Amino acid sequence: MARHLGTSLISSSFALLVIALTISPSHGFLGTEKKIKSAAFLSPKLEMNPGSVANSYFYDMDFPRGHIAVKSFDAEVVDEAGNSVPLHETYIHHWGVMPYYARKGFKQDPDRNLVLGSGSDYVFVNNAGLCNDVVRPMFGKGSETRKTSTYVPDPYAIEFDSPEERPDGYELKWLLNIHAIDTRGVVDKSGCTECRCDLYNMTTGEYGRALKPGYKGGLYCCYDKTQCPVKHGFDNGEKTRSLFLKYTVRWFDWDSSVIPVKVYALDVTDTWERKEGSTGDIPEHDCLVEYDVEPCKASGDGCVDVKKKSLMMPFNGYIVYGGAHQHSGGVGASLSREGGEGICTSRPKYGNGVEPGNEAGYIVGMTTCYPQEPVKVSYGETLTLEFNYSNAVGHTGVMGRFYIFVAQQLPEPEISLPALFQAQTKSESFLAFLAVTMVVAIVVLTAAVVYRRQNREDGYQSLGI
Ligand SMILES: *[C@@H]1O[C@H](CO)[C@@H](O)[C@H](O)[C@H]1NC(C)=O
Ligand SMILES: *[C@@H]1O[C@H](CO)[C@@H](O)[C@H](O)[C@H]1NC(C)=O
Repeated sequence: MARHLGTSLISSSFALLVIALTISPSHGFLGTEKKIKSAAFLSPKLEMNPGSVANSYFYDMDFPRGHIAVKSFDAEVVDEAGNSVPLHETYIHHWGVMPYYARKGFKQDPDRNLVLGSGSDYVFVNNAGLCNDVVRPMFGKGSETRKTSTYVPDPYAIEFDSPEERPDGYELKWLLNIHAIDTRGVVDKSGCTECRCDLYNMTTGEYGRALKPGYKGGLYCCYDKTQCPVKHGFDNGEKTRSLFLKYTVRWFDWDSSVIPVKVYALDVTDTWERKEGSTGDIPEHDCLVEYDVEPCKASGDGCVDVKKKSLMMPFNGYIVYGGAHQHSGGVGASLSREGGEGICTSRPKYGNGVEPGNEAGYIVGMTTCYPQEPVKVSYGETLTLEFNYSNAVGHTGVMGRFYIFVAQQLPEPEISLPALFQAQTKSESFLAFLAVTMVVAIVVLTAAVVYRRQNREDGYQSLGI
């Protein structure tokens, strides 16, 4: 009898100890793993021919509905059979996802690009900055989409459609922009993917805008329905195909244990300059989005174009994720504090084969940062972006963008034991933790004493642990 008691005391106190040991600052999130849902969706189709360009805007896309916490958003291009399409056939210049509140019953003219105008029927939910409306997406990537982590670390997530934020009479919808270039059989693959103006049959720039003098390549030259030249003799017949962006969302229904993060897109082409009275806020920013890299004069190694930009942060918060976006030729990017202290370095991964996800010469992924301790950023602090490109050859229309997820607060180091032990404030919960630890220690000690006594009575018995 006594022996039975001793053993069960030991096992139950051991269980308690295990619970106590798994307590960590993010334990409020314990169990969320089970709640995460995952769903894959397909965009409407893109009709592609060799050399063709699609820059499509799809409104009211499929997406999980309701007040949700999004953990990741991954995407890739697939064909009608659902097979992954390699970048050397269809180059993904970019895709971007923009949520917007639309007035209920709003009938949208399919030819009207909501991004370009404004109206009372819809309101975009932009990322938190810092570029003005030119860089809105909450989620977005380019060729690196297959091998770049987009996961928001626990216990954080991106919050959408909170009832407090949704305007009355509106509903949240999702816009997807995808810009793809079919490079099967083209004369100059890298020229087509870099949108060199001399290759495309563009007239004026996209939407009839005149090109800036000296503009040699970029988004304004490879707009929707333009064409890049295909090699003579390349069999262009029967090559039309339908492609889709397949996107996979992981999310769960919002609950109060989740800490929201905001998405910031910092751009190295930002023209912001500190002026007297600057706040660093969004209206002060103007991002050019793309830039050219001139070839270096001396040929050989060490030909690296370094572009830097320092920006003042108009927020307090903690960076919990960072990752950059670069185009082919990119050799790394960093985000650092004014004194040089590094916050995140993100490097491109180049493929070395032919299969999707490993296409030679293309950036198939970017490394991302998940700082062990969230990186504190204070209002008014200056952070510096640095983007490196190899300039052994020149490049047009490259990008330098750093995405960061910023939490406004850190998790409370509370204890997720039964409610009995839960305390309201940090110090109380620490005391509760101490108390629990002491109770556990006493139970373990008592149990051990009981057990040893038993063993003395019953003779040697292996613990067998
Ligand atoms: C460019 O070529 C494509 C394919 O031939 C054609 O559909 C498109 O109208 C042309 N665009 C311009 C601006 O000429
Ligand atoms: C960019 O290049 C410069 C000069 O070569 C080098 O000092 C720096 O570390 C590089 N930065 C990154 C992020 O690769």
